[in-house]
Amino acid sequence: MNGVVLAGGLGTRLYPLTKITNKHLLPVYNRAMITYPIECLVRAGIKNILVVTGGNNPGDFLRILGNGKLYGADRINYAYQEGEGGIADALALAEAHAAGGRICVVLGDNIIERNIAAAAEDYRKQEKGARILLKEVQDPRRFGVPVFENGALQAIEEKPKNPRSKYAVTGIYMYDNQVFDFIKTLSPSQRGELEITDVNNIYIQQGTMSWSILEGWWTDAGTFESLLNASNLVAEGGANNI
Ligand code: DAU
Repeated sequence: MNGVVLAGGLGTRLYPLTKITNKHLLPVYNRAMITYPIECLVRAGIKNILVVTGGNNPGDFLRILGNGKLYGADRINYAYQEGEGGIADALALAEAHAAGGRICVVLGDNIIERNIAAAAEDYRKQEKGARILLKEVQDPRRFGVPVFENGALQAIEEKPKNPRSKYAVTGIYMYDNQVFDFIKTLSPSQRGELEITDVNNIYIQQGTMSWSILEGWWTDAGTFESLLNASNLVAEGGANNI
């Protein structure tokens, strides 16, 4: 299973910092944000990684990550997303990298305390389909939120005003190769993006979406509040500790 880190988009919620650099190159405590999702994949044994960049300063990703050896990767490939067409639009650039196989995708602003090795192992045993990782959060309205009926996952609602569960869909996704066909069927959402939640709902309707609860803390780092929170969490307890 190959890895993909999505670090496109314009990072407007961190403006004006993102006027001078890419959001994913900003520091989270003592390291660039992008290094955490890279290590998340490496610690699950996923070492052939594509980084999808975008916006300004794409060359600086190469400067900081190089060939990935410093972070335990076997190799890092790079792709460039034009504009800010959404997470699924960025993921479409990974089709050649997937080479017909499965992929594990981590959003470039997601940071976890522990590791996803067990979930990746469970997914490898899954016959087909996808797997998402859920985490209980205080304010689900900022995220994709799963809807359950009698314990069964029915749908995911993106940033609902009235969340129907207390869980967030984290930015860690495992997909089989169908994902690229599903993305080709999407239309832009109201915010003008190809939504990863629409992709996940196609898998749910197909009956091939499984889920795990993520252990340890999880945060994104795409707003000033969450960026500060992420830095504090890393400073206090480390990140990606096995
Ligand atoms: O963090 C988890 C959440 O991420 C999920 O719960 C949501 O369902 C999912 O839609 C997403 O929500 P956000 O609104 O927080 O996503 P955001 O636009 O901040 O993008 C997150 C990362 O995805 C960003 O750091 C880089 C990548 N991205 C995003 C866009 C819009 C791209 O690579 N290209 C893009 O065009």
